[in-house]
Amino acid sequence: MLTSLLDGKRIVICAGSGGVGKTTTAAAVALGMAERGLRVAVVTIDPARRLANSLGLEELGNEPHRIDVDVSGELWAMMLDSKRTFDELIERLAPDARTRDEVLANRIYQQLSSAVAGSQEFTAIAKLYELDQEGGFDLLVLDTPPSRNALDFLDAPGRLTRFFQGRALRLFLRPGRLLGRGTGLVFSVLQRVTGVDLLRDLSTFFRSIGGMIDGFTERARRVGALLEDPATTFLIVTAPRHDPVEEAIFFHRKLREAGMPFGGLVVNRLHVAPAGEVPAELGGALGSRVASALDDLAALAEREAASVELLRSELGSVMVVVPEFADDVHDIEGLERMREHLFDAA
Ligand SMILES: Nc1ncnc2c1ncn2[C@@H]1O[C@H](COP(=O)(O)OP(=O)(O)OP(=O)(O)O)[C@@H](O)[C@H]1O
Ligand SMILES: [Mg+2]
Repeated sequence: MLTSLLDGKRIVICAGSGGVGKTTTAAAVALGMAERGLRVAVVTIDPARRLANSLGLEELGNEPHRIDVDVSGELWAMMLDSKRTFDELIERLAPDARTRDEVLANRIYQQLSSAVAGSQEFTAIAKLYELDQEGGFDLLVLDTPPSRNALDFLDAPGRLTRFFQGRALRLFLRPGRLLGRGTGLVFSVLQRVTGVDLLRDLSTFFRSIGGMIDGFTERARRVGALLEDPATTFLIVTAPRHDPVEEAIFFHRKLREAGMPFGGLVVNRLHVAPAGEVPAELGGALGSRVASALDDLAALAEREAASVELLRSELGSVMVVVPEFADDVHDIEGLERMREHLFDAA
């Protein structure tokens, strides 16, 4: 199903509400395309521990490593390290080694970068941009952060740009600003009490980062442009339940409004109605418990089928349905099962 959709694409982004199966789908899509002979890298974000284990993602660097799996292409995977990605960005944008070291060692930078990196939305796309520029892969598959709001992700480059161009930062950067009489006194008292030379940290930070603002802004712009590239496509992952379905419909609309390339929809963890009746031999209390469990499952399946219909009529797009498996998806065999549904289903 997904094959024709992904044909000729360089980047696939798996987005959707929390917990619906974005990470699993991203890994299974990467596996499927590697089986088609491509050299594929998947960038995962906080994969469930068992999946991370079986893909060997725990002893990560911030670069993809090859997974030992029998495919005609190559499957590579990495787990995003946000802080590291942000530091690498500084390394690239710093005009010289001294500025670089000054910024990286600076306490203000360390706090700020943890805060920005903590949101993961920007660093995920920034890493994608790096890998795309390096050009070592036919296809990059990006998992997205478990945010409550998938839109945070679309807006991340814009938010960073606004921060760097914003008034707050410009004010700080004005020469002499930090050295006003009153402030100087406060800082020197602080330094005496805490032993931390906050003023020096602040002024070093703003002096060295000041020269990188244009670089940052330009980088954020290009990273943002990658999301609109025709060789990029979004897969919206959802579950057949009320809230994720509403969010998927909303997200789809926002993608369209933002002019970003929507590819298709993955509805994950669909329950199917049980076939057949409770055998007559199974009488008594046990028989009626089984019957009532089957009724519950049938009702759930019916509600979920209605969600699928709603999505079909609202989105009218390529849609792939993956059933709820008996066990969670935590190794290559599980991914292979998921891959079959994503790629081979009629
Ligand atoms: N079709 C399925 N059947 C059974 N279990 C599944 C299925 N798809 C995913 N899972 C399991 O559901 C859990 C959540 O999946 P996953 O981590 O991929 O979701 P996510 O959208 O990435 O979550 P988050 O928003 O927290 O990042 C995992 O334990 C995964 O193994
Ligand atoms: Mg995830």
